[in-house]
Amino acid sequence: MAGLTAMQGAADGTVTAGPSQEALEIALRDGGVVTLRPVTPEDRERIVEGFGRLSPESRRLRFHEPRQSLTAAELEFLTTIDQDRHVSWCACLPDGTGVGIARYVIDADERGAEIAIAVIDAHQHRGIGRALLRRLAEIAQARGIVTFHATVLAENRAMLALIERISARAVATEGVLRIEVPVAAVLTLPL
Ligand SMILES: CC(C)(COP(=O)(O)OP(=O)(O)OC[C@H]1O[C@@H](n2cnc3c(N)ncnc32)[C@H](O)[C@@H]1OP(=O)(O)O)[C@@H](O)C(=O)NCCC(=O)NCCS
Repeated sequence: MAGLTAMQGAADGTVTAGPSQEALEIALRDGGVVTLRPVTPEDRERIVEGFGRLSPESRRLRFHEPRQSLTAAELEFLTTIDQDRHVSWCACLPDGTGVGIARYVIDADERGAEIAIAVIDAHQHRGIGRALLRRLAEIAQARGIVTFHATVLAENRAMLALIERISARAVATEGVLRIEVPVAAVLTLPL
């Protein structure tokens, strides 16, 4: 696919990071392959289309409320990425179909960053979420970011199971959990 410059995923799931903006191919545990690459403004339609394939429940877990669509302001935000303070990568199938997206936005102190992630339901539990988080963590670590944080609904089993695997700290308030994860711990996630 366009932008893919190196095969960097091994059959055992090992990923070797390339230069930070370089696309990389990941071999998933189930034998499938996805390409991880930075999101660009040209991904606008792909993001709208991907949102359409996200189940109502996944949309609710991602946005913390039922959602029929993305607002124009959200779409603008999701596609206006400087890849420095606001870093966003997507996962695509070999035919270019988007199946996952993850981002972080750096805090004012430049030591932490807020993360958000969504994987299309039909492709969940394949290791794509982990691969995206790992990629973000590689970029963040090079930028000197120490902690990722996110606000997660208390009933989000998948996200909680994911963060249970790393040394995350969770603080509960009114149905949401504020989660803090050392970036270094995300880098230890197996694919
Ligand atoms: C959370 C989310 C991004 C995980 O993505 P994913 O690609 O399915 O995650 P992975 O396949 O990498 O799984 C990583 C781990 O998460 C856990 N997990 C994933 N899906 C799970 C599920 N349905 N139930 C329980 N645990 C689950 C498991 O521990 C899994 O590891 P394992 O496969 O070795 O058991 C995805 O479920 C999603 O998009 N949910 C809706 C949006 C959302 O909740 N976003 C987070 C709020 S910011």
